[in-house]
Amino acid sequence: MLAARLWARQRALPRRVGFSTAALPHTSLNPVTEQDVAHFSKFLAPNSIISTLSPNPCAPDELETYNNDWIGRFHGQSTTVLKPKTTQEVSEILKWCNDHRIAVVPQGGNTGLVGGSVPVNNELILSLANMNKVRSFDPISGILVADAGCILQSLTDYVAPHNHIMPVDLGAKGSCQIGGNVATNAGGLRLLRYGSLHGTVLGLEVVLPDGRILDQLTTLRKDNTGYDLKQLFIGAEGTLGVITGVSILTPPAPQASNNVILALPTFDNVLPLYQTVKRQLSEILSAFEFIDRTAYDLAVKHGQGRALSEEDTKGAECFVLVETSGGRREHDEEKLNDLLELLLSADKPLINTGVLSQSPAQFISLWALREGVTEAVSKEGKAYKYDISVPLSSFKEVVDNTREHLRSKGLLHDKAVKYVLGYGHVGDGNLHLNIVADAYLPEIENALEPYIYEVVAAHRGSISAEHGIGAMKTHALPYSKSAISIELMKKIKQVFDPRGIMNPGKVLE
Ligand code: FAD
Ligand code: MLT
Ligand code: ZN
Repeated sequence: MLAARLWARQRALPRRVGFSTAALPHTSLNPVTEQDVAHFSKFLAPNSIISTLSPNPCAPDELETYNNDWIGRFHGQSTTVLKPKTTQEVSEILKWCNDHRIAVVPQGGNTGLVGGSVPVNNELILSLANMNKVRSFDPISGILVADAGCILQSLTDYVAPHNHIMPVDLGAKGSCQIGGNVATNAGGLRLLRYGSLHGTVLGLEVVLPDGRILDQLTTLRKDNTGYDLKQLFIGAEGTLGVITGVSILTPPAPQASNNVILALPTFDNVLPLYQTVKRQLSEILSAFEFIDRTAYDLAVKHGQGRALSEEDTKGAECFVLVETSGGRREHDEEKLNDLLELLLSADKPLINTGVLSQSPAQFISLWALREGVTEAVSKEGKAYKYDISVPLSSFKEVVDNTREHLRSKGLLHDKAVKYVLGYGHVGDGNLHLNIVADAYLPEIENALEPYIYEVVAAHRGSISAEHGIGAMKTHALPYSKSAISIELMKKIKQVFDPRGIMNPGKVLE
């Protein structure tokens, strides 16, 4: 009710049309006007401004890709996208917006899955797409300094000839930006090996809401000089400032990488398998990823990777993808073959079969079966995506119980929910619970929430293991954070952004 009453008083921002559970910003904010756009055109190149309010207005559909999120669930109504080319330009934009109380949504590759990168109403969108240069790379230390708008894949390609890799990798690598990765503290497929961005990011350059530039773009491995402010921006989802530069430690490229998909007769074997795999592969284990049968079938149905043979998948309730990365191919292959032999020769084998990649193309294809689940799900229908941390032992129970819960509400049928599936990063304790429906319907959302959040809280888990809070989960934050934590978060927000212009309606209500 409080949000509704605030809304009535806040006429400045028109009502959003998209589906969202986000509350409204608690300060009075102004929409972008023709005068604002005229001001921006004094220091931005014409091709850095896309606006229906400029003297050369864009067609409204030019704004569509910026106003709508990747899964088609969240929709904004921004009239203006600015694409600055320098940190100084970002600074001038934010100073103006702060002085004139104009809300700003920083946008990277717009691949976020919680509605954080699109406006709740008609906020100004600040796209980092034109800030895409590598600033420096030291092949000895492996430290890379890059503009925040560099696409993750392009950075991977940049460091590859120097025998380095990016410490973060995810299915959206062809579109997401390093600044977006840092802003969401993205996890992904390499976290098991290289840890989170809280460890690998060495420094940041951030433009604060009032336009001041916080230069913490250090390339030091060690720096113990009091509060580590950069950590606050990692995972802040654009609510504290705009990240314009990132200094990151890139690990040496492994000399050899292999992968294998293991087909399991029952989910009960996943944990004993994880224990065995860790013990046998030890330092060369680099990923241990899980997909249940529904996720596998959807990936295959939508052409993600090459399907395993019918024989290999017969009787499989779920699959695990194991990757090794090490220093010597023969050594790693021997270890992997020994593992497979051990698994298959056991009295009560934990797996039915294992399919080992035999070529770089097969390596990619096996990964596609896992990485491609997200895309397959989005092709199948409208996805309710829950990204939770719960004990490994309860992954299957959570997926099965959610399905049964929807069935008990009469929602599991062709016209409503089509699939309930689970996949994720076993090594990180992170389950992706997806519910695929024909459309986003209030009755489905009401059945899922707070049900899922209560399940997570009962396990003392996290309502967001890696995708963040965005606009989707602001109301659910108390399921994972204590009242004191939320109070301190609000105070931190107040210190950095007293006028509340940065990404309103995201992370905090
Ligand atoms: P955007 O989506 O543009 O923005 C995300 C948030 O960060 C928004 O709140 C935005 O305001 C803020 N932001 C963006 N850039 C900046 C900046 N420069 N300064 C301040 N704030 C900024 N996520 C994972 O964690 N692990 C995965 O394995 C994973 N796999 C994915 C696979 C697919 C196919 C897709 C579509 C998404 C996946 N994601 C995953 C989610 C998403 O890709 C990540 O969250 C990614 O890090 C977002 O980067 P982006 O540049 O697209 O950011
Ligand atoms: C993944 O692990 O594939 C990503 O986090 C994306 C998703 O959850 O679909
Ligand atoms: Zn993930």
